[in-house]
Amino acid sequence: MKTKPAKWICVGSADKLKHKPLQQIVAGKVPIALSCRDGQFGAISGVCTHAGGPLGDGRLTKDGFVVCPWHNWDYECQTGKARPGSTDTVPSHDVKIEGGDVWVNAEPGSKRVKSAHPAHPLTREIRREPGPLRVAGISTTAMSAGSPRFSTSENLLQAALDHAEAKGAKTRLLKVNELKIRTCEGYYSKGAGACTWPCSITQQDEKDEMTQIYEALVFWADVVLVSTSIRWGAPSSPYFKMVERLNCVQNQVTTHDKVLIRNKTAAFIITGGQDNVQSVAGQMMMFFGEIGFTFPQFPFVAHSRGWSAEDMENNVAYVKEHEELRDGARALTERCLAMAEGLVARGEGPAKVQRGGRKAGRR
Ligand code: FES
Repeated sequence: MKTKPAKWICVGSADKLKHKPLQQIVAGKVPIALSCRDGQFGAISGVCTHAGGPLGDGRLTKDGFVVCPWHNWDYECQTGKARPGSTDTVPSHDVKIEGGDVWVNAEPGSKRVKSAHPAHPLTREIRREPGPLRVAGISTTAMSAGSPRFSTSENLLQAALDHAEAKGAKTRLLKVNELKIRTCEGYYSKGAGACTWPCSITQQDEKDEMTQIYEALVFWADVVLVSTSIRWGAPSSPYFKMVERLNCVQNQVTTHDKVLIRNKTAAFIITGGQDNVQSVAGQMMMFFGEIGFTFPQFPFVAHSRGWSAEDMENNVAYVKEHEELRDGARALTERCLAMAEGLVARGEGPAKVQRGGRKAGRR
């Protein structure tokens, strides 16, 4: 690399700066991750090569690597090089101490290198493949395959999916509790640009099965039916685990003005031994509306035996015996299919949307 003339900038007193192992500073206009390890200062670019995370706000490991606070990529604190096995680097900057002050050369001593990573399949163009209507059922019951029991919400969901098949639609059932889904690690709380599409967990962890939900919601399905039990007046914990990982779908609207869910219909099946159906439905409709779904008239069916019904042993029996609950689920399917037919006929949905007052942080 042809080096430019040095542009030394005084960034503060060495005595003061040495107390923090790592900090984000600015030399002139250049963000720098300044480290101090065993009394030795190091300066590398403060902008992560992955997605621009502020490296100086991360942490310094014992073996001298700066770990990005966004998604944990790491770089050697003096050279900016990644660990062996990766060629990604951030520029390094010379440092000197003069008159008790730390000086950083704002001109980098090495280049940024971003190696070509194969594009993740979820980054492909969003386009509806031709074919019959497609209905994805997402069961968020807490019942697991390892302990199979009758799930009232999943039973109604299955009735809805069977009816969709009978009407000529293709169906797919995803059981959240049987997928290996990592918990959202809240990157958005570190910075708007830290929450990426695809989710950085998905990009880094091939074993994470949230991809199946993303594929179904963003690409495959015209209709998404989500079923949940009521737990303490709210949807189930698997439901929230999934929803938190869908932050990245919502944040694409906020940070990139990009709508991923286009012309798709969602509806809900809610069952609980006790009450709070309307609150659960409200939560689900709010969230799925926020990520871009539209709803048919009367977008949920629900069953609850009321607050005073503590005889839970009768709850499953009630659902098994009352065919009208499954009739309700089938009618919901028909409303969804009718709506989806109209939406699909309109062609591709909008990729951008005007949302007054909510500014995108990064583009
Ligand atoms: S690891 Fe630094 S921005 Fe993703």
